[in-house]
Amino acid sequence: MKAIGLTHYLPVDHPDALLDLELDMPVPTGRDLLVKIEAISVNPLDTKMRAPRPKVESRPRVLGWDAAGTVVGTGADASLFHTGDAVFYAGSIVRQGSNAQYHLVDERLVGHMPASIGFAEAAALPLTSITAWESLFERLRCSPTGQDRNDTILIIGGAGGVGSMAIQLAKALTGARVIATASRSESRAWCLALGADHVIDHAGDMALQLQDLGIGAIQKILCLNDIDTHFPAMAALIAPEGSICSVVDNKAPLKIEALKDKSVTFAWESMFTRSRFGGAAMIAQHDLLEQVARCIDNGSIRSTMTSNLGSITAANVRQAHARIESGRSIGKIVLAGFSGTGHGTPG
Ligand SMILES: NC(=O)c1ccc[n+]([C@@H]2O[C@H](COP(=O)([O-])OP(=O)(O)OC[C@H]3O[C@@H](n4cnc5c(N)ncnc54)[C@H](OP(=O)(O)O)[C@@H]3O)[C@@H](O)[C@H]2O)c1
Repeated sequence: MKAIGLTHYLPVDHPDALLDLELDMPVPTGRDLLVKIEAISVNPLDTKMRAPRPKVESRPRVLGWDAAGTVVGTGADASLFHTGDAVFYAGSIVRQGSNAQYHLVDERLVGHMPASIGFAEAAALPLTSITAWESLFERLRCSPTGQDRNDTILIIGGAGGVGSMAIQLAKALTGARVIATASRSESRAWCLALGADHVIDHAGDMALQLQDLGIGAIQKILCLNDIDTHFPAMAALIAPEGSICSVVDNKAPLKIEALKDKSVTFAWESMFTRSRFGGAAMIAQHDLLEQVARCIDNGSIRSTMTSNLGSITAANVRQAHARIESGRSIGKIVLAGFSGTGHGTPG
């Protein structure tokens, strides 16, 4: 089967940074599904995994943790899906990625694909939906049943992949006022189109902009970019007993003690925690993807796909990596279909 992977960790402008490979067909066992991949999307995670370093892989590493496709085989213990089901999922960072014609994934990490959209639109959704959902409803403890009417949620980095889902899920499900941040006219327009009540500029003085809008303390803050720069503002803006969640690493120590007087809860989100550590918690990602699919099908949220770069080749995936590395991506970049022949028979 065809796959896109690497053996050397090279800069994105190097022609061998990603390679077109021919790999053996995987065989499903246990609770695995064998999925015929129809479309993928690319995340900053892929570029971080590909970041230049001296390491050399003896066996090619396949990247990609966002896919939509069709179940073509199941392990003996799988029970949630049948052959022929259309599915979408992010999978597990400790296994080979989904940039391949056929891919194995534990069924507990997989959702039935929304019926109302195609494979490309669906591939835009899983990783960022899982991240946004776990951040809002589990780490920040937002209400998924509209009970947060008196709260304001601030989403820092609103136009990126995760922010695009967080704005929509917060607006569709919590009842809270949603403020997103964006620094350019096109990213600002995207956040408003997704339903943000207000957009402020993360490159400017956020406290001053909120003051101009007549908005005081913020009950919940989701940080999706540059926590080192934004932490002092978050510590100042957060309401007493409020909550802050970050999906991004700090580069320098954070002055976490700044949150003590207000008894603020600080939470990390890593969407691979459940797949990495396994166990009963994994099924939560199946459940939340099923709920996201229902939200898509009932029209309360929409796909965040903003560009489709064409077939899944090393050159096209490398182009997607370059766009992500610019740090200015809006919504999600998708690729769909494998050009030519050469794929094997599902085993
Ligand atoms: N922990 C986890 O489980 C997890 C999961 C998913 C993603 N992540 C991480 O979360 C981050 C965001 O992911 P993503 O997919 O949303 O990325 P993305 O799509 O590449 O985000 C691009 C957006 O970031 C905004 N941005 C750039 N610099 C910013 C800054 N200094 N402050 C605020 N926003 C800024 C840009 O908005 P403007 O152009 O308007 O400035 C742009 O629209 C990445 O670092 C990713 O690796 C972590």
